[in-house]
Amino acid sequence: MTVDDAGLQSPDAATRRASGRTHRTGYDEPTLTALAADAAAVVARYPEPRSALLPLLHLVQSVDGYVSPRGIAFCAQTLSLTTAEVSAVATFYSQYKRHPNGRYTVGVCTNTLCAVMGGDALWETLTDHLGIGHDETTPDGAVTLERVECNAACDYAPVVMVNWEFFDEQTPGSVTALVDTLRSGRPVRPTRGADDVVDFRAMSRVLAGFPDGRADEGPAAGEATLRGTRLARERGWVAPPFPDEDASDAAGQDRGGADGDAAAAAGPQIPTGAPRNDAERPVTTPTDASSAPQRRAETSERTSRTTTDGSDAGRDA
Ligand code: FES
Repeated sequence: MTVDDAGLQSPDAATRRASGRTHRTGYDEPTLTALAADAAAVVARYPEPRSALLPLLHLVQSVDGYVSPRGIAFCAQTLSLTTAEVSAVATFYSQYKRHPNGRYTVGVCTNTLCAVMGGDALWETLTDHLGIGHDETTPDGAVTLERVECNAACDYAPVVMVNWEFFDEQTPGSVTALVDTLRSGRPVRPTRGADDVVDFRAMSRVLAGFPDGRADEGPAAGEATLRGTRLARERGWVAPPFPDEDASDAAGQDRGGADGDAAAAAGPQIPTGAPRNDAERPVTTPTDASSAPQRRAETSERTSRTTTDGSDAGRDA
């Protein structure tokens, strides 16, 4: 220990905890070997290792069924972070569970639109029927119940999710049948998405970035969601261009956030509003990450020039 001018003790450099180096993960050897191989594949996708923390937390959940203490230690060790840093992230997002989760997370949206369309009634029905409350699990380990805030599916209110697959326009009767089927071990079919719902660990592995090959099963979007896109196409509505973007680009092409030359090199352009999947998105590269501050600076400089040369002076007058 050393003592500073204020008389406070602090660890010497030799005894100070090095980020991620002193944690024991507690996994057996085969599990640790498999986890390490998967983690390496995830980390390789990012310019900075610490950027892989979110998918690694999903990976831990795919093994332990929640973000376990040993999983936190594994993430810290893998990414050279402290366990406090990993815990800070894991406790921020509700998709990360801090105690063992059921095989199926049943999320009832009780946000404003779903609530007035019947979400509150769904919640009361399920809490009564299952005898559990928010973030609690049925004794058989099948269902963890959650109140959720807007599933971004308001056009199908009231919406329930099972392991983040959509069950649209539910009723008290349909959700009761849904959880009974889940507890019986029989498959359930979402309204949109894959043909049936996989369990929490399997879904967590997909969220960690290991596709199960089922992304193209079932309908991805229903009529209510597509109606706006169709109207926009019919009437020629497009989003306004970014400051450094040619208006014709905005009208006819989606550049995916890349510079024009890079976008052209990445392959054929996909028209705005057209369906696209993850495989068609340009990957983030170290070059993208390092050039982002420069692009921001250039945009800021342009904005500043516009303001000072008077060309925009009349806008707010
Ligand atoms: S309010 Fe329920 S999905 Fe948006």
